[in-house]
Amino acid sequence: MPPFEPVLLEAVGTPESHTLESYRSRGGYAPFETLLAEKQPTEVIELVKSAGLRGRGGAGFPTGVKWGFLPKDHPGPIYLCVNADESEPGTFNNRILMEDDPHQVIEGTMISSYATRATTAYIYLRYEYPHAWDRLQAAIDEASAAGLLGDNIKGSGFSLNIYLHRGAAAYICGEETGLIESIEGKRAWPRIKPPFPAIEGVFRKPTVVNNIETMACVAQIARRGPDWFRSIGVPADPENPRDPGSYGPKLYCLSGHVEKPGCYEAPLGITLRELINDYGGGVWKGRKAKAAIPGGISMGLMTEAEFDTPLDFKGPGTVGCMGLGTAAVVVIDETVSIVDFLHNSCRFFAHESCGQCTPCREGTSWNLRILERIRAGKGRLKDLEILLENGNTMGMMPGSTICGLADGAAWPIKNAINKFRDEFEDYIKRTNPEGWMVTDPVPALQIVGAH
Ligand SMILES: Cc1cc2nc3c(=O)[nH]c(=O)nc-3n(C[C@H](O)[C@H](O)[C@H](O)COP(=O)(O)O)c2cc1C
Ligand code: SF4
Repeated sequence: MPPFEPVLLEAVGTPESHTLESYRSRGGYAPFETLLAEKQPTEVIELVKSAGLRGRGGAGFPTGVKWGFLPKDHPGPIYLCVNADESEPGTFNNRILMEDDPHQVIEGTMISSYATRATTAYIYLRYEYPHAWDRLQAAIDEASAAGLLGDNIKGSGFSLNIYLHRGAAAYICGEETGLIESIEGKRAWPRIKPPFPAIEGVFRKPTVVNNIETMACVAQIARRGPDWFRSIGVPADPENPRDPGSYGPKLYCLSGHVEKPGCYEAPLGITLRELINDYGGGVWKGRKAKAAIPGGISMGLMTEAEFDTPLDFKGPGTVGCMGLGTAAVVVIDETVSIVDFLHNSCRFFAHESCGQCTPCREGTSWNLRILERIRAGKGRLKDLEILLENGNTMGMMPGSTICGLADGAAWPIKNAINKFRDEFEDYIKRTNPEGWMVTDPVPALQIVGAH
């Protein structure tokens, strides 16, 4: 593996890395001031487009393209919402950026606001991140005192205020239209799209929603240039015009059964095996890995045999996962039951479904009940078919729900059963020798904690 110099995490672990003085000493805010003086907003959008930056919040949508969807010459306010809800299980890269290098995030937010002509930016911060709140607020205060925020910044005519908004402590608050509803003071129920936020977002005004790490990448592109960014990662496939490539550095969260869990910066396209062995020190206690989730639990599951798959925007999809997601890898060692893994996953999604869409509200709840039944020794082989039928019919992709939470709930089910079918069948036959072949309907177990 070639050596790689971290840039997004450059300051993490260094003394006073969160202060304006430290950020300035690393060249911080000079790129913002230069862009403000020398470039038009449309030129900044082109800069980010030419870097090939794709959003780091989960879907990997090209950032400059998203900014280009905003209506031209819109007379009223435009808003930027920076998504710091970070509730995807296994994901903590945003927290590290906010706590240890908040000015990098703030500079990216300033540049993105200038490019999109947003004069108000909200950072929507996960409820459970009080330290990040303190660090971000202190950074906003320092930047304001230095004349980098407020009215007519540096005499440019551009004005910007950044506000922190505390999240409502639910996974669904990270879905971009749920987040928008929450900023407006309402329950975070995702909106039916279209209209997309670029046309009708916060307070029904044009809005861009971008992730915290996306903001840090914007700051680095402004500092080091689009060619530097494109020199890292996996280039677009020339045979496939729909592949925008996977450029730039990426923060990979590594947790679960590894020797050295942590947040590591590596070029997009590192394989899961390299990440676990070279960065994470291998599977813990000398054990073997059984599987890993590649990008947060909603992306599904990779088997150990699939660990040579590149963790770029395309790789996980080639082995049946939903995508790269947040690039939060959780390693599962050989001693873990996949039945228990799936039970945990179903419990999470049943708890987090907002309840608006029947397939998601009922589907997540029934999936959990079926897993509870299997674990209680009353499972049937037929239950696997029911789980797969649920998994294949709930979600935005099959077209039955408003948001992608249901797809995220479905993917671990599909991957776990399709990739570990033998283990599920053995478990059911072993724990329910009398009834595993029953196909008639059976009563549900009463469970606590679901809708
Ligand atoms: C259920 C659900 C939860 C989400 N949670 C987050 C989150 O915590 N942070 C985030 O940046 N994006 C999250 N997203 C994705 C956002 O809707 C949105 O695509 C993203 O913030 C856009 O930023 P990006 O273009 O910079 O990636 C979530 C999506 C879904 C469906
Ligand atoms: S898919 Fe689920 S979480 Fe998303 S809006 Fe529908 S019920 Fe709510």
